[in-house]
Amino acid sequence: MNRTPSNLTPSIVVFASGRGSNFKAICQSVRDKKCNVKVQALIINIPNCGATQFAKEYNIPIYTIDSTTMKRSDHEKEIHKVLNNITFDWIVLAGYMRIFSSEFIQKYSNKFIINIHPSLLPSFKGINGYQQAFNFGSKITGHTIHLVDEECDHGAIISQNSFEIKDTDSINAIEERGIELENKMYPKVLNDLASKNWKIHDLPNQRKKVVFL
Ligand code: GRF
Repeated sequence: MNRTPSNLTPSIVVFASGRGSNFKAICQSVRDKKCNVKVQALIINIPNCGATQFAKEYNIPIYTIDSTTMKRSDHEKEIHKVLNNITFDWIVLAGYMRIFSSEFIQKYSNKFIINIHPSLLPSFKGINGYQQAFNFGSKITGHTIHLVDEECDHGAIISQNSFEIKDTDSINAIEERGIELENKMYPKVLNDLASKNWKIHDLPNQRKKVVFL
C-alpha cells in the first residue's frame, strides 16, 4: 500500500489529556509553515487540561468529552458524534491517556491514527516510559512515533529518536530532554508523512513498519 502525497494538506484532529506540549509544538510548526497539516480540532477527555490553553492561543476548536464519568463504549460513542461533524484525514494522539477499543480502531481504518510514545518500543510500553527506562538502568532512551493498531503501543513504527542517559542524569533531566526531543520531532515527522511518499511495509511475524520511499 503506497501513500503519495496529494496536493491537499492533510487535516488532523488532535487528542490530548494533559500538559499539551506536543500539541503546542504542532500548532507552532503549522503556523511557521514547517508542518503542512491543518489542525481542525482538539479533543480532550480531561476538562481544562493544559492543552486547552494552546488551542485558545491558536484558535483551534476544543471538544471536551469527559471520560471520568463514562464507560469506554459510551465515551467512544460521544467521540464518534464529534468526529462525524469534522472533516479530517488523520487522528493525532498527543498525550492522550485513553486506550481505544478495537471497534474504534476498525471504524477509522480508512484514516490514520498516529501516536507518540515516550520509549523506544517495544521496550517500556504503558505509562511513564522515561521513568521505566531510567529505573531499568538503560543507557539510552527516546520516543517512538507509530501508527496505532488494535494492540497497545504496537503499531507500525514511523520514526524513533534516541538520546543517551548519562550516569549522572536525574530522572527530571531525562524527562526534560525527552519531551524537548518529542516536541522537535513530532511536527517534523507529521510533515514528512504529509509531504513524502511512503508505504506500510510488511515484516515477518505480522509486524509492519512505515518506509519512506
Ligand atoms: C509525552 O511524553 C508523550 O510521548 C506521551 O505523553 C506525553 C504527553 O506530553 N504519550 P504533552 O502533553 O504533549 O506535553
